[in-house]
Amino acid sequence: MRPYDLIVVLDFGAQYSMLIARRVRECNVYCEVLPHDVSVNELKKRQVKGIIISGGPASVYEEGAPQADPNLWTAGIPILGICYGLQLMAKELGGNVKPETKREYGKADLFIDDETNLFAGLPQQIQSWMSHGDTVTVLPNGFKQLAHSDNTQFAAAGNIQKGLFGVQFHPEVVHTPQGINILKNFVYIVCGCKPTWTTANFIEQQVKELREKVGQEKILCALSGGVDSTVVSALVNKAVGDQLTCMFIDQGFMRKDEAKKIVELFTKSFKINLIHVDAAERFFTRLKGVSDPEQKRIGIGNEFIRTFEEEAKKLGHIPFLAQGTLYPDVIESAVPGTTTGKVAKKIKTHHNVGGLPEKMGFKLVEPLRLLFKDEVRTLGRELGVPEEIVSRQPFPGPGLAIRIIGEVTPERVKILQEVDDIVVSEIKAAGFYKKVWQSFAVLLPIRTVGVMGDKRTYLNTIAIRAVTSTDAMTADWARLPYDLLEKISSRIINETPEINRVVYDISSKPPSTIEWE
Ligand code: XMP
Repeated sequence: MRPYDLIVVLDFGAQYSMLIARRVRECNVYCEVLPHDVSVNELKKRQVKGIIISGGPASVYEEGAPQADPNLWTAGIPILGICYGLQLMAKELGGNVKPETKREYGKADLFIDDETNLFAGLPQQIQSWMSHGDTVTVLPNGFKQLAHSDNTQFAAAGNIQKGLFGVQFHPEVVHTPQGINILKNFVYIVCGCKPTWTTANFIEQQVKELREKVGQEKILCALSGGVDSTVVSALVNKAVGDQLTCMFIDQGFMRKDEAKKIVELFTKSFKINLIHVDAAERFFTRLKGVSDPEQKRIGIGNEFIRTFEEEAKKLGHIPFLAQGTLYPDVIESAVPGTTTGKVAKKIKTHHNVGGLPEKMGFKLVEPLRLLFKDEVRTLGRELGVPEEIVSRQPFPGPGLAIRIIGEVTPERVKILQEVDDIVVSEIKAAGFYKKVWQSFAVLLPIRTVGVMGDKRTYLNTIAIRAVTSTDAMTADWARLPYDLLEKISSRIINETPEINRVVYDISSKPPSTIEWE
């Protein structure tokens, strides 16, 4: 039996589905995103306590607009329709929806007409965020108006007896400051959920499941030093202690002192069995003469697998492998052409420690597969993973190798490690590390002329890249203060004899990408 109540968001192709799920989880109620056409039988089998239907195509009357199970509305499960969700509910239950002559977009004052259920405990007037072209003009039988705005009569409506509610605005976005309370009211009051989705409960449940699954057997975890694999290791360690062995393959492309810190944390603080494989030499040999980005990734990926296989063999039979797969990697978008789940197109082959070959025959254990990244961070803190790792910016699997344009040599890695350390420490000192998504240095293969003292120099160039983003799918260059950039630049040039020029990357993604390779 699942120890948490379950709310589901039905995915009609909205950009907001994942966000809604995260917001519901902030109410300490577990929430999953499911395909829009999931059957009522399935929902009942899973004992779903409430359904949220979010955005979708422009209009419910659009040809080929995705449909829900026709029995959804009479299944006896409470429903909250948001925007398109409200319109769909109104249309399906006999109301009417019409296109507006003018699309309503932006902030709108919302006046509450019914202070029970969704709006219990809220002020009579709140700010909301609207974004719609169609609007409900006639409510279905049994529905009443619950809130209005200057432009929208049925800004919220519901059939209270049947637990069917709809809002025209978006409670999940920050521009609706009371939105989280509206979601809380839906899940607690309307659906009767209990706030039991907590880190402590999650740990207890996972520890129990891991012990049942692994039994007395051994389990292996490939450790990269990133947030996910570190948190997985800490969690599995809590569950089965000595049965866990972590393998950290140091490719030689980590940031300055990072490998040392990982080894210390695991052996001294966590006391986890750690196998530290210093494989730098074989990775440098593999990359000799390689400057094409994809060839680098493939080379590193293959070498990683080969090293892992060799080292794992030395450990004898280990049936289980723990991986840090997260929820966004697991959910598949059900609506063609949308990217709620997996990214449709591969621009770069991504190499993760998770990509170990199936033929190795491990049984996979993925204890984070229900979690969003921010939940993994909270879990890590609770398990005692240091803040430095928990709040670490994303770092690519191939490491500094794809931030060295051209051939990767030990000398060039050393230069970039020193420069990168300056960039990260200055950005941290200025309080920008957590405000940006990623911030790092890239070593360029070109040399330019400079003058130092009275002497001409002819040295390498460093590019600084700092971006803001929410999911790495799109990104904007960070508007770092000039003073900070100046400090970074002068420290790099003063402290790194191989560098005489620093440039700042002001391109966004798309059309550029975050990494230079
Ligand atoms: P791009 O450069 O494609 O990066 O805009 C998007 C995000 O993915 C990370 N990235 C990688 N991660 N292996 C990884 O594990 C890779 O080969 C790789 N390439 C890019 C990048 O740091 C950013 O967070």
